[in-house]
Amino acid sequence: MPKIDPGFSILGEDYAADPYRHFAQLRDHNPVHYEASIDSYFVSRYADVHRVLTEHDTFSTEMFTERAEPVMRGRVLAQMTGAEHTAKRRIVVRGFTGAALPAQIRAIRDNAAELIAPFLPLGRVDLVNDFGKPFAVRATLDILGLDKRDWEQIAEWHRGVAEFVTSVALTPERRRHCLDCAEQLEAYLVPVIEQRRREPGPDLVSALCTAELEGVAMTNRDVTALLINVLVAAAEPADKTLALLVKHLINHPTQLAEVRRDPELLSAAIAETLRYTPPVQLIPRQADRAVTLAGHPIPAGTTVFCMIGAANRDPEAFADPDVFDIHRPDLGTARSFTAAAQHLAFGTGLHQCVGAAFARAEIETVAALLLPLLDRVRLSDAAGYLETGLYTRGPAALPLDFTPVASPRLGDTRP
Ligand code: HEM
Repeated sequence: MPKIDPGFSILGEDYAADPYRHFAQLRDHNPVHYEASIDSYFVSRYADVHRVLTEHDTFSTEMFTERAEPVMRGRVLAQMTGAEHTAKRRIVVRGFTGAALPAQIRAIRDNAAELIAPFLPLGRVDLVNDFGKPFAVRATLDILGLDKRDWEQIAEWHRGVAEFVTSVALTPERRRHCLDCAEQLEAYLVPVIEQRRREPGPDLVSALCTAELEGVAMTNRDVTALLINVLVAAAEPADKTLALLVKHLINHPTQLAEVRRDPELLSAAIAETLRYTPPVQLIPRQADRAVTLAGHPIPAGTTVFCMIGAANRDPEAFADPDVFDIHRPDLGTARSFTAAAQHLAFGTGLHQCVGAAFARAEIETVAALLLPLLDRVRLSDAAGYLETGLYTRGPAALPLDFTPVASPRLGDTRP
């Protein structure tokens, strides 16, 4: 394999068009790639990524003070450690697991049924823009206990906040726009928080308002930051995973037929989608001391980006890594949504995704509803298929054709 081109840049157009084409060369010849314009390192081998995400004494999340706090309006889970991190994670996770889960699943199914209904008689839908994006924001508002009728406005603010967090380089104009979105989102949330303090309900906003840490309630700012944290963390990867799942299944008709016959295989299909094309492609950390990774010195204080897509395709971790195979023995579906996952799509270590099990339930529920409705589903424009995004990545659009459904029976979506 040829050595890496000295002019190669992860910020270049060639990489943006298809990062997957570059992963093997990076892992083999440049496993710790330095990007001078942003003074950051990009780490591509599975073992090195795993080390960066789990060696917490060396690699911290300090850089989120600049990358996230300004738009999250306060400190987020990713910045916390120790007892505070454990306690706040526990409160957040209670909002969408255990007793809260059945109502969340019902809400997911209702949202999905309502959004897909108008497209069924047409036999056409853009699974990203007509369905996935509105679905993911609305489902997340349900998890939080925010008013779904405001979803379009919240989605707009959310886009600005997400752009800030996931940008590798922002112009001053875009930065101002993102901060404006965050300020407006905060102004929307504070009255809701105050109302739930007076009249708590069975939702995550109320749970955060009423929780006490060592006898002290959280401030409005603490609650706002955690709400924006969950909103941003939950919505974007979910819609991208759904679109990628459907696209991979369409491109692998035998596996699609198997999943249609046996919906129990959906978990494996979702886990393999996450391994093969993780929607969160980069996870940043800061080297708190000078360290050597794969033989390369990294100075203290620099940002290290973990390349999740490259790590998940590392032949040292997965056999035939460039093959999409829902039956792969090294996937370990049962643990793919837990702290013991072999793939790194949810990260690993202290800050591993708190919503992993919920994401599985969410995507499984939607896919189980959609697949039987999308008979003879195919890509409307396979040649025009385009993925975008450096930090988070997914299809820009996914126009699908399928057999029109004259009178869809979606009325009763109770389990
Ligand atoms: C397929 C869907 C999802 C993917 C691929 C994903 C991916 C990730 C990744 C890679 C991280 C680790 C970031 C880091 O180490 O800095 C993370 C953290 C997090 N995720 Fe997810 N996520 C998904 C869905 C969700 C959902 C549905 C929720 C909430 C309901 C959620 C909430 C969070 C939160 C709050 C964190 C921060 C945890 C912490 O710092 O302790 N995620 N997610």
